[in-house]
Amino acid sequence: MSRLNVEQADRCAALLLAHHRRPRIAVLLGSGWGALAQRVADPLHLPYAALPGFPDTGVAGHTGEVVLGRIGTHEVAVLSGRRHAYEGGDPAAMKGAIAALAAAGVELLVQTNAAGSLDERMRPGELMLVSDHLNLVQRSPLLHETGAERFVDLRYAYDPALRAQALATAQRRGITLHEGVYAWVLGPQFETPAEIRMLQRLGAQAVGMSTVPETILARHAGLRVLAFSLFTNMGCGLQAERLSHANTLGVAAAVAPLAADLLEAVIASLVP
Ligand code: HPA
Repeated sequence: MSRLNVEQADRCAALLLAHHRRPRIAVLLGSGWGALAQRVADPLHLPYAALPGFPDTGVAGHTGEVVLGRIGTHEVAVLSGRRHAYEGGDPAAMKGAIAALAAAGVELLVQTNAAGSLDERMRPGELMLVSDHLNLVQRSPLLHETGAERFVDLRYAYDPALRAQALATAQRRGITLHEGVYAWVLGPQFETPAEIRMLQRLGAQAVGMSTVPETILARHAGLRVLAFSLFTNMGCGLQAERLSHANTLGVAAAVAPLAADLLEAVIASLVP
């Protein structure tokens, strides 16, 4: 990271740490997961606009604020709203936010997203733990980094020990939690049926337009990562209905309470 960016991250971290909050876990909420922000105890709301390096967020359903507070005994920073690579083409759009969280002492990033299912066993309205990803966009948020750290090892991009904890919590709560590979596509258009068949053959169970660049940024910053997908639809051609953003938001809203239940329980029971 350039010197200017380090200074910006430190300035932003100082703003996050004012008010004597010490978050160790950050949670990045995607479509359908927003209800978690209302489950934060002792909440303090900071708009992204007040935090240097945090992005402008444009998409409906992504509001752009950090909520500092507690889930269970853990101090958390819950981020509502991300800037996607399809909004302007920058895969490093969340770099400032993640650098600031790392500078503030955050050690773990829990990511969430809405996704299309590529697997008939994983139905709309169900949840998946991300075990690995395919960076099909073949863009990196680290292109302007220097130094040996930019050659990030992604073998354990999604932390195996934390994944085991998440699966155990889901089982205890009786919530179905699939596990699979998330394929990142740029969007914002949905896929063609031929692309969906290609993704199935490549071994992915979920397809979506986010998460992967933030995982790479987080691993580069030394954070451990856990990620969840909420299926809003079957991939194009696997279901009769047409795909639309309104459909994504509609299904996501219906699943929101279940998604928040799982996420709250997982975070509360994490042993980092
Ligand atoms: N494709 C890509 N991104 C998505 C989808 C999809 O089918 N559903 C929700 N996000």
